[in-house]
Amino acid sequence: MSSITRRCVTTAPRLAQLAIAAGKSVRPSRGYPVVGSSIAIGIRRVAGSSKAFYSGSATDRPTLLPEFSLKDKVIIVSGGGRGLGLVQSEALLEAGATVHAIDLLPVPAGDSEFAKVAKRAGKLGTSLTYHKLDVRDVETLNETVEEIAGKHGHVDGLIAAAGIQQETPALEYSREDVDKMMGVNVTGVFMTAQAVARQMVKRKQKGSLVLIGSMSGTVANRGLICPAYNASKAGVIQLARNLAAEWGEHGIRVNTISPGYIVTAMTAGLFEAFPERKRDWPNANMLGRLSYPSEYRGAAVFLLSDASSFMTGADLRIDGGHCAW
Ligand SMILES: NC(=O)c1ccc[n+]([C@@H]2O[C@H](COP(=O)([O-])OP(=O)(O)OC[C@H]3O[C@@H](n4cnc5c(N)ncnc54)[C@H](O)[C@@H]3O)[C@@H](O)[C@H]2O)c1
Repeated sequence: MSSITRRCVTTAPRLAQLAIAAGKSVRPSRGYPVVGSSIAIGIRRVAGSSKAFYSGSATDRPTLLPEFSLKDKVIIVSGGGRGLGLVQSEALLEAGATVHAIDLLPVPAGDSEFAKVAKRAGKLGTSLTYHKLDVRDVETLNETVEEIAGKHGHVDGLIAAAGIQQETPALEYSREDVDKMMGVNVTGVFMTAQAVARQMVKRKQKGSLVLIGSMSGTVANRGLICPAYNASKAGVIQLARNLAAEWGEHGIRVNTISPGYIVTAMTAGLFEAFPERKRDWPNANMLGRLSYPSEYRGAAVFLLSDASSFMTGADLRIDGGHCAW
């Protein structure tokens, strides 16, 4: 029992006596932060003091914001070999998680960015492990996720960041290319979330799944011709709402992060081919600049941790105000 809980439990009888003496009800109420016994929850309302709602001062807590801690949590990150997935993996490690990256790329070399982050994980007292696989290979995906859950006895979260991008005018798009886009960005994300949720349900444990969408799932980008990509990201956002609706009863939360333009390998190729975009794209948002993967670290930790415990079926759009204009 934490010191926070202990305090509420020991304070409850005294407050109950005061409330009963004042002729007030001490019936437990629903919808308040649950700390301590149900009687303590009812009493906090009766007491009427905002202080009574707090479970302790900052100095009572082990860290400043313990609800952001991912200590002892096991999290899988698809697309964790590089880019946004790798940067978010590092944030999860810093918050205390054990991270398993799954990615199509060859096993990273010893001097790669991935290897540097994996080395740092060791110094942080945790670990980052690489699993080379294609999220479209559903059998291997399920085997790998089951193996990870079996090794640790649990799996607590997912970031589904594996994705591809293709710029082709709609009149020229081939069926094969559309199928590939949907296969990775929608079916691949769906099957990854399913594989992780299956383990959570089987083990009767709660968890949090974060699917990486895009602001392009909400708006069509001016000057960037990606009909299939944008449709796939709209699919990811809608998929998350439906998974959240189905899996809420198991205590599994599902949300999306919708980034604006990020400087990663995915966009670097476009900037080489169309240098004017490096000038034009920043002007399309309210902050007048492109974003960096590091600007999505906090959102990943927030959504995977208890800091967002009442959040599900939501889209966290982080786009410098691009879609608000
Ligand atoms: N870069 C941006 O501007 C931007 C903006 C909004 C959303 N996003 C999304 O963020 C996510 C990460 O993108 P990024 O910019 O880091 O790009 P990235 O290309 O650097 O990273 C994507 C990763 O996914 C992996 N991957 C691709 N297909 C896979 C498959 N079939 N199986 C397993 N792994 C696969 C790649 O190998 C790569 O490591 C993507 O979902 C992307 O759509 C990116």
